[in-house]
Amino acid sequence: MKQERGNFGSKLGMILAAAGSAVGLGNVWRFPTETGENGGGAFILLYIVCLLFFGLPVMVSEFVIGRSARLSAGFAYHHHAPTPLWRWFGRFQVLIPFLILCYYNVVAGWTLFYLVEAVRGTLDAVPAQAFAPFFADFTSNPWLQVGYFFAFMALTHAIVVQGVSKGIERFSKVLMPGLFIILLILVGCSLTMPKAQEAVDFLFTFDFSKITAHTVLAAMGQAFFSLSLGMGILSTYASYFKRDAVLGTSALTIAGVDTAVALLAGLMIFPAVFSVGVAPDEGPTLIFIALPSVFQSAFSSWPWLGTLFSIAFYALLVLATLTSSISIHEVVTAYITEATHCSRRKAASCVTIACFTLGLLCALSFGPLKDVHLWGMTFFDLFDFVTAKLMLPISGFIISLFAAWRLSRTTWEAELTNDGTRRFPLRRLLFVMLRYVCPIGILLMFLNELGWMKLL
Ligand code: PHE
Repeated sequence: MKQERGNFGSKLGMILAAAGSAVGLGNVWRFPTETGENGGGAFILLYIVCLLFFGLPVMVSEFVIGRSARLSAGFAYHHHAPTPLWRWFGRFQVLIPFLILCYYNVVAGWTLFYLVEAVRGTLDAVPAQAFAPFFADFTSNPWLQVGYFFAFMALTHAIVVQGVSKGIERFSKVLMPGLFIILLILVGCSLTMPKAQEAVDFLFTFDFSKITAHTVLAAMGQAFFSLSLGMGILSTYASYFKRDAVLGTSALTIAGVDTAVALLAGLMIFPAVFSVGVAPDEGPTLIFIALPSVFQSAFSSWPWLGTLFSIAFYALLVLATLTSSISIHEVVTAYITEATHCSRRKAASCVTIACFTLGLLCALSFGPLKDVHLWGMTFFDLFDFVTAKLMLPISGFIISLFAAWRLSRTTWEAELTNDGTRRFPLRRLLFVMLRYVCPIGILLMFLNELGWMKLL
């Protein structure tokens, strides 16, 4: 099964590729929304605690599993524990990103559409109250939905097909700095807005009375999603890491970059939101319905600046979603290459075609298929629910148990000490977390998301 594999050529490239996967809609859209809904600063503090004690151990585990096996997520577990159970778990790890790709790229297509419309100047011409119907018209138009979904799939394909270092790494090295530059410029602009101080206070005032069991679980869920845990991405990418990469520090750096982007996204969005008087807990429609009108009115004295701001904002979203999308595509492509020994081009084409075909169900969920419901959900909602609410927590739960109880200590030692050349600090804490805290935390998060906590 082992064959010549790609490698990340440089440490920077490796960090940027993994951070590119972590930085996505989760940072720019989900993090500000969750912060808005859960009361600001206290949520951010909790988020950081969850990230350190809960997200990082699982992230390091995925790194150790992937790099030591030098196989993608689909085969790495079976390599360490050769029983049918772990063969099936590997397949489960591939199914998750496959299903996510089918609906994530539909939303990614929306970001591309908004970018195109911002450049064409259409967004400027829409009156503030008309963004909700504008969005509804767009999502219910089957041609536009399918067209943009296809375009995003094609972009993703074009990068993945070029391989690990020539494709994923090379593009991440350009896309990620581009994303940072746009983000910093936008934050700079936002901070000059009239209500910037209010937004900063909202983000950084720690009101501990706002912390409830629900906030804790929401923070955990956000850390889990934002770090791309449980999707097979980190173990697959780690299988391309070189032997001298230091896994602990790499995980910390990636989590740091991811959090910095999320905080900056908060600083970019909230000043505009407050200055225009939109509620900070507007919810998921924030970036496609509220923000375009926010940009218009925030810069009403200089409309051209509003136009530039929205072009830059949607360009940022496209970059962030693209680096995430290539990472989920890669998990499936790598699996197929390893399973069938076919060329990367063939494997990637199979993934793209299969995802595109199945994803049509999601893309059409807002138009022709909007009345088709399974278990009360449209296809789009169903894919989202099944992956994010069911499969990801199950996967995270099993990964932490696998890492703590099944993966050999020798493997842990070799990976975390770089074959005995480095110290492995906090090892006790790491294992306590993986054995008890992470599985229990994930279980509670799972019950909470399904609404079963209330019943208990
Ligand atoms: N961490 C990503 C984000 O914040 C999550 C993700 C990665 C989702 C890859 C889909 C694909 O958006």
